[in-house]
Amino acid sequence: MGVSLEGEKVILVPYMKEHVPKYHQWMQDPALLFATGSEPLTLDQEYDMQLSWSQDPLKHTFIVLDKQMIMGEFVHGQPHTEAMVGDVNMYMNDPEDPLFGEIEIMIAEPKSRGKGLGKEAVVMMMAFAVENVGIHTFRAKIGESNQASILLFHKLGFQDSSFSEAFKEWTMELPVTKSNRDYLLQHCADKMVTHSS
Ligand SMILES: CC(C)(COP(=O)(O)OP(=O)(O)OC[C@H]1O[C@@H](n2cnc3c(N)ncnc32)[C@H](O)[C@@H]1OP(=O)(O)O)[C@@H](O)C(=O)NCCC(=O)NCCS
Repeated sequence: MGVSLEGEKVILVPYMKEHVPKYHQWMQDPALLFATGSEPLTLDQEYDMQLSWSQDPLKHTFIVLDKQMIMGEFVHGQPHTEAMVGDVNMYMNDPEDPLFGEIEIMIAEPKSRGKGLGKEAVVMMMAFAVENVGIHTFRAKIGESNQASILLFHKLGFQDSSFSEAFKEWTMELPVTKSNRDYLLQHCADKMVTHSS
């Protein structure tokens, strides 16, 4: 079992097999598949994906829990499916440099959007990645029609680095400088509570 990270509005928990049915249900929505550039999977394929993600050393994946929706006390190791609203991932998928971290965020539950959960989840993932993985540049790939996500990453300081005509998507990057590293460590990592077993 990996760690859980607790922020002000969200708790990021490891993606567990108990989360798969709801995750699979979300990914039946054509709009979400399009926004995230995903292919539809069967339930069995989704279980296989959850297992492979949890074992992949080049991927960190968390389910986003909305703290307001947690029933009772939060317990690390419990899936708390009642409060799952999305996911946040980071892949070290650059074959030439494993310290590039590509971040993806999805707040799948419409009622949980626009409340600052997506932004907080991305910042927490970045703080985790700077502190524990040593990432030196963050990257995000976002479809040109996904204005909400483009604005979210621009707000965090990401800048457009290229546009793919073939995929109709922007690649944005944010280098980790001394000042944004200090900010992530002092204002974000220090405020996050890490739960581990
Ligand atoms: C895009 C998404 C991740 C944003 O998460 P969220 O929790 O709703 O966003 P937040 O409330 O944290 O907002 C953070 C910033 O994002 C931007 N933003 C969020 N929703 C927006 C919207 N509907 N329109 C325009 N900008 C928006 C704003 O700049 C906002 O900052 P502000 O509140 O200071 O104005 C979420 O809505 C989502 O997952 N949508 C569907 C799937 C998707 O598009 N995934 C992205 C694939 S990479």
